[in-house]
Amino acid sequence: MTMNPGPAPHSVTSTGKPSVSLDLGGRTALVTGAAGGIGRACALRLAAAGAKVRAVDRDAAGLDGLVGQARGLGLAGVVEPFVLDLTDLDAAEDAAAGADVLVNNAGLQLVRPLEEFPPDVFHTVLTVMLEAPFRLIRGALPQMYAKGWGRVVNLSSVHGLRASPFKSAYVAAKHGLEGLSKTAALEGAAHGVTSNCVNPGYVRTPLVEKQIEDQAAAHGIPAERVLTEVLLKDSALKRLIEPEEVAEAVAYLCTPQASFVTGASLVLDGGWTAH
Ligand SMILES: NC(=O)c1ccc[n+]([C@@H]2O[C@H](COP(=O)([O-])OP(=O)(O)OC[C@H]3O[C@@H](n4cnc5c(N)ncnc54)[C@H](O)[C@@H]3O)[C@@H](O)[C@H]2O)c1
Repeated sequence: MTMNPGPAPHSVTSTGKPSVSLDLGGRTALVTGAAGGIGRACALRLAAAGAKVRAVDRDAAGLDGLVGQARGLGLAGVVEPFVLDLTDLDAAEDAAAGADVLVNNAGLQLVRPLEEFPPDVFHTVLTVMLEAPFRLIRGALPQMYAKGWGRVVNLSSVHGLRASPFKSAYVAAKHGLEGLSKTAALEGAAHGVTSNCVNPGYVRTPLVEKQIEDQAAAHGIPAERVLTEVLLKDSALKRLIEPEEVAEAVAYLCTPQASFVTGASLVLDGGWTAH
């Protein structure tokens, strides 16, 4: 489905070029949900900054695509694909050992009224988007503490700070992730480890594309009206944000200049939460 008519005449757009100066040479970064969307953009951005990237996803073909894209950018051998379903929590914790930068990004969405929301999906959403980040942080912290340096970046959302109807599992998971992130910030501070959330509004990714039809059904409107009347209704800037813009915020949180930024939620929402 074509999603975005493109920038509105008066909207602010990104140049698409990295602007944050970041050197992660000698560091290892683990990015979950790296096969596509925001995770792929983060994996490529951290690889470009010199990190060795452990790219975790259950989508093996998507990870192949990421590796090919990295090769095309002159980053051959820098991105290590790691096929893993994060509902395997023990394996997730093991995978995080040795990561200096941990980007908890994998996620999924189901748009359904509460009384119709399938309990098994609620459970899976909480497992992938809250319990797996806990286990990954748990797996990464001992070596981060030993080295006296670490960066935990949690892909939250405006939905970590605000609710929307029909997204009970997602909103619950993101609100939980905010609490987990702040707790990691408090515990990690003495060890040189920061933990922050990044909170985008709607990003141009498959996760958003997939929910257009669901949103149309839940709100009883045609799919072509979902973008303007539902997704961007509360955004002052009437465009989707690009994955690369989110990756740039993640990069910033890994810089020495951001070493005092911890326990924070970096909101990239086009003014949504200014209401
Ligand atoms: N797209 C948006 O508008 C938006 C807005 C705010 C926050 N976010 C958050 O950003 C993150 C990434 O979203 P996206 O839009 O890039 O989504 P996406 O659907 O494009 O990518 C999510 C990735 O997570 C992976 N994944 C899902 N379940 C998994 C599992 N059990 N094990 C391993 N991998 C799994 C998928 O395979 C996919 O590659 C999510 O946490 C999402 O909540 C997205």
